[in-house]
Amino acid sequence: MKLWAGRFQKETDTLVNDFNSSIDFDARLYSQDIAGSIAHAQMLGKCGIIEEQEAETIIDGLKAILGDIQAGGVEFTLDNEDIHMNIEAELTRRVGEAGKRLHTARSRNDQVAVDTRLYVKQEIPAIISRVLELEKVLVKKARANLDTVMPGYTHLQRAQPTTFGHYMMAYANMFRRDITRLEDCLERLDECPLGAGALAASTYPVDRFETAKALGFKKPTDNSMDSVADRDYAIELLSALSILMMHLSRFSEEIILWCSWEFQYVELDDAYSTGSSIMPQKKNPDVAELVRGKTGRVYGSLMTLLTVMKALPLAYNKDMQEDKEAIFDAIDTVELCLPVFAAMVDTLTVRPKNMARAAAGGFINATDCADYLVKKGLPFREAYMIVGRLVNQCIKTGDTLDTLTLRDFRAISKLFDADVYDALALKTCVNGRKVYGGPARESVEKQISLIEEFVGARKDV
Ligand code: ARG
Repeated sequence: MKLWAGRFQKETDTLVNDFNSSIDFDARLYSQDIAGSIAHAQMLGKCGIIEEQEAETIIDGLKAILGDIQAGGVEFTLDNEDIHMNIEAELTRRVGEAGKRLHTARSRNDQVAVDTRLYVKQEIPAIISRVLELEKVLVKKARANLDTVMPGYTHLQRAQPTTFGHYMMAYANMFRRDITRLEDCLERLDECPLGAGALAASTYPVDRFETAKALGFKKPTDNSMDSVADRDYAIELLSALSILMMHLSRFSEEIILWCSWEFQYVELDDAYSTGSSIMPQKKNPDVAELVRGKTGRVYGSLMTLLTVMKALPLAYNKDMQEDKEAIFDAIDTVELCLPVFAAMVDTLTVRPKNMARAAAGGFINATDCADYLVKKGLPFREAYMIVGRLVNQCIKTGDTLDTLTLRDFRAISKLFDADVYDALALKTCVNGRKVYGGPARESVEKQISLIEEFVGARKDV
């Protein structure tokens, strides 16, 4: 029999029963649901809304249910629709009368709101610690490749020289922002909706500060309607996770390119690649491709939730039950991707010679050549034009700037001297870029120390 049988003349149709039920996916909130109920019962007892003895009976019952669920000894049913009603029904079955008092001054609307926030509050630090692990891998790779010169690209055309270390720290900076975005999200969602009831709180003298504190929230939410209608903390989380995945996906894309036969900048460890069922020569970057692919899933979850919420009148609407699968799937996907991605990067082998060869062959010191003329007094635009002509000439003759003779140089500008070769050496070009944030060894070392400081400050996460 349904909880609401008093109001109804008919049984719920089985189609509706199945359709309406969320237990198949919200069962994973059982520990949060029990924690919320324990805090609620304790507060009800303390505030004299139910007898202290009844509160104790409820709490003991809930603790026993928690243990039994963990041991696999509790069966949830579709008839009880969701995790909240399943646990309440189980409690009442076990402890009788007292169990029926648990839902005083509460609604499933504030219950589901608190459960989901508790879940997200627990998962964000877990995700952050995985990103921190990735940061450590990037720092390690960067430190080992401070002098590994490679081409930097714009439009995927060789542009200016950089190092693999500088490249790794570029990603490290993106992931640092991802972490702070998650921290911001955590900070903002740290308010407890419990006690908001269905939408208009209740006439009972509940102490929302008490339950907020018992559940580890900073404070209760400030408006009961907002408390049950709001899912923007989840949208914020899914946005942060989408951005994080976008970074992982770009990085994956680069790894896929870099380990192609055309680039051969890196080689993936055998343990982090796969072979082909037909082509014996293949070594495929499946891990990177799957991370790139799974990014679409996480974006999908964000779109789901944004779309579910976009036209909902206040306060709770059943549409919002759709939030959970989106939240869970995005969190699961990110948690699945991060460790395997970090391990893949950690174990890949860098091929400095191939990077250097590509860097030497692509006129990536053309800007430096123009800068050389500027340092000899020419306005940049004129220098730029001269070097453009030189490059054009080289392309025709199959030369690069470094293979030109001094006579070739001087034929185009008398400002060129023998020191031009040193100015165009890739090491000089990289190490001259000592600007804060630049690719010179000392600049990258500074970037490493900033990331290390950031990671170090979060050791206990
Ligand atoms: N299973 C529901 C959900 O996830 C719980 C809240 C139900 N509230 C209601 N008024 N029907 O959203």
